[in-house]
Amino acid sequence: MKKIITTIAATALLSSTAVFSAQQSPIVQADINAFQKHFNRSFPKLSLNNFSKGPYAMNEDKKSQFDAIMEFPPFEDHVEKGEKLWKTPFKNGKTYSSCFSGGDANIRANYPKWNTAKNKVVGLEGAIINCRIKNGEKKIGSGKGKLAWMGAYLTALAEGKTINVIVPRGNSKALAAYKEGKKFFYAKRGQLNLSCADCHVYNAGKRIRGNTLSPALGQTTHFPVWRGKWAKKKGDGFGTIQRRYGGCNKQVRAQPFKRQKDQYNNLEFFHTVMNNGMKISGVEYRE
Ligand code: HEC
Repeated sequence: MKKIITTIAATALLSSTAVFSAQQSPIVQADINAFQKHFNRSFPKLSLNNFSKGPYAMNEDKKSQFDAIMEFPPFEDHVEKGEKLWKTPFKNGKTYSSCFSGGDANIRANYPKWNTAKNKVVGLEGAIINCRIKNGEKKIGSGKGKLAWMGAYLTALAEGKTINVIVPRGNSKALAAYKEGKKFFYAKRGQLNLSCADCHVYNAGKRIRGNTLSPALGQTTHFPVWRGKWAKKKGDGFGTIQRRYGGCNKQVRAQPFKRQKDQYNNLEFFHTVMNNGMKISGVEYRE
């Protein structure tokens, strides 16, 4: 009898602490548990993976709008273009895949990554640019266009894989970068003096100027994302997560930071680690 009880207790513990990796810094693991518990308590009806539907998980009308659009996704052509670009060899004959280990389908869920040689966080879009440079190709734009299409292809390919971003245990520089990202997330900024957490943690699910605020838990499962708003501007609708960060900084009338630099890379590191244990939901539509 005692054995049965311990087994049940152990199972319960596992399901509440979503994912556990022996390489993860224990401080970070404690943060992940607390962050996810907050959302679990605030929205007890949602399972961990439901959070990836953001505003659509907490608003029925919006959910049916989302479902209708996802039936005939407006972005498939560009995901295919991304696949073609990804598979086209560089002039030296090598491919993008040669810069990554573990198979194309396993790339997305493990980024951003701590790069030990550079002592920096590198986001997946940054790693793709670095791969081009290493192979003698030119840089490409970092917020939309070709890079976002290739990123979207990798996200489509990774659908169902579990996010597992690691802040390596015992690495003080990696922990410092993570802490910078965390500080960014909770720091008030702009003329409106609001932090990411003010909108996406403390007010998640509430409405603001016709929008329902998505929870920060689940925001990194489907990027680059295809947005109706971006499609109306010049471009094709796709944007990377760092393009979105820029938009949210502007919303509070703060100056956005440059993409693929430490500020947004560290923010993306923190933000994605908080989503550890969630599944990549594939490419999705947003308003
Ligand atoms: C004034 C409130 C506000 C602040 C502050 C804010 N955002 Fe947003 N954010 C929004 C709104 C509104 C949307 C669009 C609806 C939604 O998905 O929440 C959005 C969308 C997003 C999305 C897209 C989610 C998706 O699934 O497509 C991400 C990612 C995001 N915000 C991250 C951040 C980060 C990181 C910060 C801090 C740098 C931040 N936001 C600050 C209001 C805010």
